[in-house]
Amino acid sequence: MKLSSLLLSVASLTTLAFAIPNPIPGSSNIQLRDPAIAYNAASKKYFVFSTGKGIRTYTATSLTGPWTAVGSVLPNCTVITDIPISGCSLWAPDVRLVNGRYTLYYSVSQLSTQNSAIGVATSPTMEPGSWTDHGAVVRSKKGDSYNAIDGNVVLDNGKLKLGFGSYWGGIFQVDLKAINKTSQSPPGTHLAGGTAAPRRAASPTSPWARPTGSSSSPTATPPSPAYVSPFPPSSPSSPFLFLSSSSLSPLSPVLTYLCLCVSCVLQEKTRVAAGREYKVRVGRAKSSSGPFLDGSGHAITAGTTSGWNILGSHDNVYAPGGQSLFRDPVSRRDVIVYHYVRMDEVGGASYLGINYVDFSSGEPVLVN
Ligand SMILES: *[C@@H]1O[C@H](CO)[C@@H](O)[C@H](O)[C@H]1NC(C)=O
Ligand SMILES: *[C@@H]1O[C@H](CO)[C@@H](O)[C@H](O)[C@H]1NC(C)=O
Repeated sequence: MKLSSLLLSVASLTTLAFAIPNPIPGSSNIQLRDPAIAYNAASKKYFVFSTGKGIRTYTATSLTGPWTAVGSVLPNCTVITDIPISGCSLWAPDVRLVNGRYTLYYSVSQLSTQNSAIGVATSPTMEPGSWTDHGAVVRSKKGDSYNAIDGNVVLDNGKLKLGFGSYWGGIFQVDLKAINKTSQSPPGTHLAGGTAAPRRAASPTSPWARPTGSSSSPTATPPSPAYVSPFPPSSPSSPFLFLSSSSLSPLSPVLTYLCLCVSCVLQEKTRVAAGREYKVRVGRAKSSSGPFLDGSGHAITAGTTSGWNILGSHDNVYAPGGQSLFRDPVSRRDVIVYHYVRMDEVGGASYLGINYVDFSSGEPVLVN
């Protein structure tokens, strides 16, 4: 009797410890990919930006919505015109207040190639029509050891650093001397994933090259880690690196299998083996340039099973990823925004997810 009640309480503690809360109410009907979020204290509005034509914009006066589509960041598209893209599809926005201006990084990438660039635009308000495009900061081309997508800017003791990259060579970080100018040649410091060496040459349709924000993928399972928010916004002294990854290691042979399966998903609307879908992993470092380790001291560059797995499939949430971190000045809490597919809609759309994150234990945990 005692033993079984002990087991029971251990079991319920375990369940409690690992139960991931559902997305907060109000966001679950917004279809998007790769959300980023910021708050304008003057207009008292939250802005969510997402992959899509000219970077789509949604606003709300509360984190719980209602969210309204209000237009786009670059309705006349980017000034980066030498990379062929269709329908002005710009990917994976990252937004942050830098020196008093809202600063938004976006990706321009020719589908299935390393012909990519990260561009940057600024605005005093984030409202559609208020953005100034400053063009490319980092570029990549065929044969480079990296892919210039999925930018993420951080301010470390007044110094700007831009993280970027994909499963194609991994995640890197370059120092910036201005929001649109690097002070070292890319790719800079290798932070996570990949081998930092050129990937196999990609055929024009190879799924290896499909960037995270690809809107052509009907599921949330692109084989790419996305570099987002190395800092818990509440505690800049202890940087964290958040990755989306679709297998435990972007290096392992599993990925080859997974890529093939992504093609299968595209055609047959089936899912990858459970556990190999998109999820959010985290590593912690002493410096914003790494090395990022998990609780067991494993470097997340090592692939395999390293990194805290803080958000995977649960309840009706399947393959969450494409995340951004944000310090909400209203609730004074840290917030994660991400996209996910509904568990019960195989091959379905991606939806906005928002949750609070608690860093007080030293490990980020999604909480109510
Ligand atoms: C987009 O182009 C149109 C036509 O040239 C112009 O009227 C409009 O102001 C432009 N919008 C922005 C946000 O630059
Ligand atoms: C950075 O942006 C400013 C303002 O738009 C522009 O004048 C400058 O040429 C840009 N620098 C680079 C390196 O693109």
